[in-house]
Amino acid sequence: MDEERFITSTKTADDGALDMTLRPKTLSEYVGQDKIKSNLKVFIEASKKRKEALDHVLLYGPPGLGKTTLSHIIASELGVQLRITSGPSIERAGDLAAILTNLNENDVLFVDEIHRLNRAVEEVLYPAMEDYALDIVIGKGPSARSMRLNLPHFTLIGATTRAGMLTGPLRDRFGVICRLEMYSPEELAVIVGRSAEILKIKLSREASIEIAGRSRGTPRIANRLLKRVRDFAEVEQNGKVDTPLCKRALELLEVDELGLDFNDRKYLSAVIEKFGGGPVGLDTVASAINEESVTIEDVVEPYLLQLGFIARTPRGRVCLPAAYKHLGIAQNGVSNEQIALLE
Ligand SMILES: Nc1ncnc2c1ncn2[C@@H]1O[C@H](COP(=O)(O)OP(=O)(O)O)[C@@H](O)[C@H]1O
Ligand SMILES: [Mg+2]
Repeated sequence: MDEERFITSTKTADDGALDMTLRPKTLSEYVGQDKIKSNLKVFIEASKKRKEALDHVLLYGPPGLGKTTLSHIIASELGVQLRITSGPSIERAGDLAAILTNLNENDVLFVDEIHRLNRAVEEVLYPAMEDYALDIVIGKGPSARSMRLNLPHFTLIGATTRAGMLTGPLRDRFGVICRLEMYSPEELAVIVGRSAEILKIKLSREASIEIAGRSRGTPRIANRLLKRVRDFAEVEQNGKVDTPLCKRALELLEVDELGLDFNDRKYLSAVIEKFGGGPVGLDTVASAINEESVTIEDVVEPYLLQLGFIARTPRGRVCLPAAYKHLGIAQNGVSNEQIALLE
């Protein structure tokens, strides 16, 4: 899929600055995810009272739902420093050791894409998470011995789009595991309204609902659509954003009323037209539409699953009747009875 895909929920270069300005700074500004917020509030409070490091936290869910934002908030509510790194950027065990020994007591270490840590690095993490210790081997061969170094107490926050790709031992070392949910249109409308205020965009309530409804449950997409709509508004009507303008702008961007774009339609029509609606394996669809399997799995499918447009079965992906209906294809999708037979 084209890197510049408009609706992608992964970060594009353009998002960096926007993410920073629009990122809520406190738990109370963080919209939605109520269960996660109320749990975290208690854990943060308790760890502050005991002056201890918060338990390690795993945040997982599709891109753009607020994992990075939430880890900034956790550190700031704890009143500690946040050190940010990511799975692929820690190449050797020594890199991680250097990061860990440089933390202050009770600091938060944020590891984005934690499922992409390599094995050797992950092994350093186990005793670090469990005992706040670093086991180092000195020397080689028969004279080698191992030494244990104490580390500052710290909180590891791991973020991943793929909880299933975490190894069991790593997963077990997180005391708090939070699965972020897609946002409701109402919550997204609040986020859009808040962002509009920050960006000084005149936006009607109705227009914010229009944008929210097309944001695929994802705050990052909501903010990005808002920005694009603002561009249209500036050119066409002095910056005023109303519903007709929103609709026109989003149509020009080929984002339909459910938030599906060209690539979603391409995926759905491939499953329907090339593979008779499925079941078809992920890799097979991926190569049919010239897209990477991981992108499909992380970015395209979560929302289509949420909409009930597709299902993942042990024999592959299937398109459901709702998808046919949305695309205006007369024939019917795989029925629930048929899906049951596939399982
Ligand atoms: N709960 C939320 N409330 C308000 N804005 C949010 C929320 N979650 C995410 N955002 C917005 O979406 C953007 C992307 O969130 P981010 O934390 O980078 O997602 P992730 O790390 O899960 O990919 C943020 O910059 C922020 O503006
Ligand atoms: Mg992130």
